[in-house]
Amino acid sequence: MSKLVLGMVGFGVVGSSVLKAILANGEIINARAGKQIVLKSIVVRDKKKAEKKLAELNVIDTNANITLSTNVDDILQDSEIDVVIELMGGVEFAYTIAQRALKAKKAFITANKAMLAYHRSDIAPLANGLPVGFEASVCGGIPIIRVLKDGLSANHILGIRGILNGTSNYILTQMQQFGKNFATALKEAQNLGYAEADPSLDINGGDAGHKLLILASLAYGIHAMPEDILIEGIADITPDDMEFANEFGYVIKLLGIAKKQDDEVELRVHPSMIKKESMISKVDGVMNGISVIGDYVGESMYYGAGAGGEATASSVISDIVAIARGESAAMLGFSRPLEEGKLRLKDKEKIHSRYYIRLYVRDKPGVLGEVAQILGRHNISIGAFLQKETDEKNIATMLFSTHHCYEREINHALCELEQIDSITQKPFKMRLEDEYE
Ligand SMILES: NC(=O)c1ccc[n+]([C@@H]2O[C@H](COP(=O)([O-])OP(=O)(O)OC[C@H]3O[C@@H](n4cnc5c(N)ncnc54)[C@H](OP(=O)(O)O)[C@@H]3O)[C@@H](O)[C@H]2O)c1
Repeated sequence: MSKLVLGMVGFGVVGSSVLKAILANGEIINARAGKQIVLKSIVVRDKKKAEKKLAELNVIDTNANITLSTNVDDILQDSEIDVVIELMGGVEFAYTIAQRALKAKKAFITANKAMLAYHRSDIAPLANGLPVGFEASVCGGIPIIRVLKDGLSANHILGIRGILNGTSNYILTQMQQFGKNFATALKEAQNLGYAEADPSLDINGGDAGHKLLILASLAYGIHAMPEDILIEGIADITPDDMEFANEFGYVIKLLGIAKKQDDEVELRVHPSMIKKESMISKVDGVMNGISVIGDYVGESMYYGAGAGGEATASSVISDIVAIARGESAAMLGFSRPLEEGKLRLKDKEKIHSRYYIRLYVRDKPGVLGEVAQILGRHNISIGAFLQKETDEKNIATMLFSTHHCYEREINHALCELEQIDSITQKPFKMRLEDEYE
């Protein structure tokens, strides 16, 4: 049997799981690939740590003759290596490795969504027929890249709604189901190893934004950057918001949303209130879920582990098998540019949605009228309404949903509300995403 020789940069959570899977499931992987998959070299920063890990995996006893190095050139300049697998993270150095691997005529695999969020459209033309795999970069073990690239290739993608970040989903699930506040739920996620010591990208929506941008390239051929789209996180959500959601039949999820209308595409990541009956609202804890609507297929839904070594390694290995089989579709799924009109990114101000609003107000007569008047001046009408006392004397929480309006209108209205004497804190808004239900 001929061989496919791999060089891997990074031997952390994902890298070590890739090796583990090759050792444990080598026979079935090789049979599917039609080649013997051989991991020849691994590059890390700390060789001692990596040696210890290899010993733990019993690699010494398995005749897997793996070389460890701290110099990436040992992989990039090794003519025997067919595929470079980048599993170290970071943006610019990882991009340099992609460039150098492709220049050296090696196939390239990565799980690095942060790097792809910025450089996917730089890498695509460099590939020039060489395979580039990134199945593991979005939603760990869910094969959503292949779904958009191959499975749904007959369709215009009308919309995507995805729970793309397991850590934030775990926190929101704990808040919703057990009444915890954000800080407690985050601490718990960290203690359980779901959140990084620095969880910023998970909770500020940045990680979900990176993944949404990758999906948008495959679905629409649109190559936006993180700075171009609306990204909001979950840190400002309170038990009051959860109570309102529960009362009116919603759950709160951090969603990555793409919507195509005519020649415009909306891309945004933000916490959203969605109907309890919707399929995606049932995706709880650290799990990920994505609903895709195609014009021919209708809605299809994908659910599974969005992170973790084993699930992510499963996707990395699917890329290895595809390369061994000789598959080399265009990296971002379009073999030639779309002729039917280039899609444009929709202006954030033109988002049209229902909104949920939380206000802290001085508990005195006439405040509701004052609030309603300001909203009315901006063409916003109130839907459901809930008022609660707070622990603070004479301060009440006013919670309500609105009917549809434009983002521009709600922003102006909230700015005006913030100025009035009766409002004691910056108003908070969240979008309601219930139009598919
Ligand atoms: N963990 C997940 O569940 C998951 C899921 C999907 C995607 N991903 C993506 O997969 C990638 C790897 O994640 P991970 O969780 O496996 O990370 P990790 O556990 O922190 O491991 C990173 C590895 O990369 C090595 N490394 C870092 N910088 C390096 C450099 N400059 N040169 C050589 N080696 C370097 C580290 O070596 P030392 O230990 O010697 O420093 C370590 O072995 C990231 O892009 C991540 O976003 C992860």
